[in-house]
Amino acid sequence: MSAFLHTSSTKGETPPAGISVRLSLTLTLPAPAPAPPTGSPARPLPKHVAIIMDGNGRWAQSRGKLRWEGHAEGARAVRRALEATGKLGVPYLTLYAFSVNNWNRPRIEVEALMRLLTRFARKEQAELIQQGVRVQVVGTLEDLPGSTRRAVEHLVAATAGGTRTTLSLALSYGGRNDLARAARRVAEEVASGRLQPEEVSEAHLRQHLSTHGLPDVDLLIRTGGESRVSDFLLFEAAYAVLALLLVM
Ligand code: FPP
Repeated sequence: MSAFLHTSSTKGETPPAGISVRLSLTLTLPAPAPAPPTGSPARPLPKHVAIIMDGNGRWAQSRGKLRWEGHAEGARAVRRALEATGKLGVPYLTLYAFSVNNWNRPRIEVEALMRLLTRFARKEQAELIQQGVRVQVVGTLEDLPGSTRRAVEHLVAATAGGTRTTLSLALSYGGRNDLARAARRVAEEVASGRLQPEEVSEAHLRQHLSTHGLPDVDLLIRTGGESRVSDFLLFEAAYAVLALLLVM
């Protein structure tokens, strides 16, 4: 297998000033390991998989379609990812559906993404309930336009009883933003005397992240061939295995 990874930015993410790097990497995978003898313990499944859904625009453009059509295909891929996690028994799936950075995209694209989210929230509800999926949001749902926000809130409430898979939608999400907000809450606790500075720990900070209650990310997948982390789950994916996929 060979892969080409590059760091050039196509969508408003700003690389550090003065740095322009192109990195070409060829991965040679070893021959598949022989199947373990019957009775030996299977390799444990990741408990929490997170996906940076990238490459939608390029997927569409390479087929002479509009960018929003690529996002629509991305929304269909969400269904397939959910089916796969459900079948495999992966209990937590977190999707980077809309980043804080995405607000900088052209208004027409932002509106198309909001429409897709609204449609997803309304159309998929029955299927998600049937599959035992509980939907929750990480990030700042309040930033979204009213109709999208209400559709997502409705979906969250309607699927609250799901016990098979927890689907976390990262909406208006940024890892630094989430950390800064958590730090602010901790600072308020210290300022009010409810918390001593020496009591501030990783575990305490974690409780104030919008991802609280989720286990650490075991596997972080990025589609579309790029290799950046893009401000996604900076705290939670500290020890995650990365899978950079060329597929769009
Ligand atoms: C990045 O592709 C993808 C996004 C900014 C949005 C992802 C959203 C969806 C797949 C649809 C809505 C989500 C749900 C959960 C229904 P890109 O436009 O940056 O692609 P490019 O790198 O080719 O430009």
